[in-house]
Amino acid sequence: MSIQDNYKVLARRTRPLRFSELIGQESLSNTIKNALSSGRIAHSFIFTGTRGVGKTTTARLIALALNCVGKDGKGGITSEPCGVCSQCISIQEERHVDVIEVDAATRTGVDDVRQLMEGMSYKPVMGRFKVYIIDEVHMLSKSAFNALLKTLEEPPAHVKFIFATTEIRKVPLTILSRCQRYDLKRVSIETLSKHFARILTEEGTSFDRDAVEKIAYLANGSVRDGLSLLEQVIQGQERLTLKHIEGTLGLLDKKDVEILYLHILSGNAKQALEIASKLYESHADPVQIIEDLLSVSHQLSTLITLGQKPSNDSSFSKDFDGISLDTVLLIWTILLKGIEEVKMTSLSFETLEIILIRAIYIQGFQGKGVKAPTKNESVENSKGAFQNKYTVQSFEEVVALFKKKKEPILASYLKHDVGLIRFAPGYIELNATKKDSHGLRGQISSLLKEYTQTPWEVVFSSQSGALSIADQKEQQDKEKREKALESDAAQAATKLFPGAKITVK
Ligand SMILES: Nc1ncnc2c1ncn2[C@@H]1O[C@H](COP(=O)(O)OP(=O)(O)O)[C@@H](O)[C@H]1O
Ligand SMILES: [Mg+2]
Ligand SMILES: [Zn+2]
Repeated sequence: MSIQDNYKVLARRTRPLRFSELIGQESLSNTIKNALSSGRIAHSFIFTGTRGVGKTTTARLIALALNCVGKDGKGGITSEPCGVCSQCISIQEERHVDVIEVDAATRTGVDDVRQLMEGMSYKPVMGRFKVYIIDEVHMLSKSAFNALLKTLEEPPAHVKFIFATTEIRKVPLTILSRCQRYDLKRVSIETLSKHFARILTEEGTSFDRDAVEKIAYLANGSVRDGLSLLEQVIQGQERLTLKHIEGTLGLLDKKDVEILYLHILSGNAKQALEIASKLYESHADPVQIIEDLLSVSHQLSTLITLGQKPSNDSSFSKDFDGISLDTVLLIWTILLKGIEEVKMTSLSFETLEIILIRAIYIQGFQGKGVKAPTKNESVENSKGAFQNKYTVQSFEEVVALFKKKKEPILASYLKHDVGLIRFAPGYIELNATKKDSHGLRGQISSLLKEYTQTPWEVVFSSQSGALSIADQKEQQDKEKREKALESDAAQAATKLFPGAKITVK
């Protein structure tokens, strides 16, 4: 069975058949139930709300309530449809001739509406009422709306209209003013968690609480979206865990993201950048990294505002009291703006780094959080007349200098995307394999000249052979590992455990 089929099964199996099973829409279902019990039922309804919150479900419930005849076949309109009479069953199975569901997204024209109207004057065949459920009604054309309007003004007594839309602003006022309007809410994480926990229990799948909460969080208020995610992650699982969800849905490890956030808060630029590159190397998308950081900002700011504390297993539980709302909101703004920047460029990782640096610096960590290179580190600030004059003796020092001068994009470009062919003070010959989509090359010599106050010639050639610094490092690491394997200790271990495979990390 494909995921899609399976999902349908789950969503259909869990479609509420009573008002009491509708979650998160209490005031709506109470009002409608009261109207049904008192017999004062509007002839047209319009339901609005985001997808998967129960618009179609509620429309069907009303159709059930209006047509149910009860277990003994003698019942009248009810707020508690029985679910077992012939009317209830055929509506549930979507084959009741008097309950007509139309998707206005595919039938938008005036002819479609006219055709629909034609059958309207005839009495219902099976049930008490003809119920027209028109989904995504905002998609109707102008003339289609006009055709509808006439009937809406004076519908036959045996006809009920139920419209549903995700975009209420696109529905003409003339239509709106003739309908009873209900706004369905996004369902809260808490309510969704309980709902999904109950479903999992019924499905016989055990689960961790944080796993269910994660799904509820990702559902973003939509029951159906949550069910569809749930369907994807429970395939073949005996127990649903957060790790499994993160793996299946390609999410980042929550702990890594929290720790990254903590480093931003404490101004540890180096560690923050290290975690970011670790996440990036494990194929995390920079946009996703920022989105997850945004979500941390959001969690922290609501906790602070509501005077609550993070849970004990949260990375923030220890330092929470020291975190200020101002800072968290500031970081939010920077990250939010950053997402657009990351999407705009092909240097998405470098842009992510810049955004992290910005988030740190804006808090006033200049020179505090970011450690300046010490004397015996690569870049030396030559003392003397020119405070700002630097000397560089190797290509690595050039890269380090760009980093120090807060040109991380250039530094990263030189580290990853070019290979060194020749270096002498004042002269660099590079082999570039990647396209210089941001026109970085031209800046190298002019910036070097500015920093060192001596002229530099930077030549790009297509001569091959040279590795980038990043690749060289990788190569060296590999050699180191191989050497270690040949070492005495490794040989001794092989003697002790013949046939064992030794790996060095
Ligand atoms: N409020 C809700 N309570 C319980 N289940 C819901 C609710 N809203 C949606 N669902 C679930 O999602 C599925 C689709 O809901 P539907 O009513 O078609 O959403 P829409 O608002 O897009 O019309 C339902 O079959 C049901 O399983
Ligand atoms: Mg719907
Ligand atoms: Zn019934």
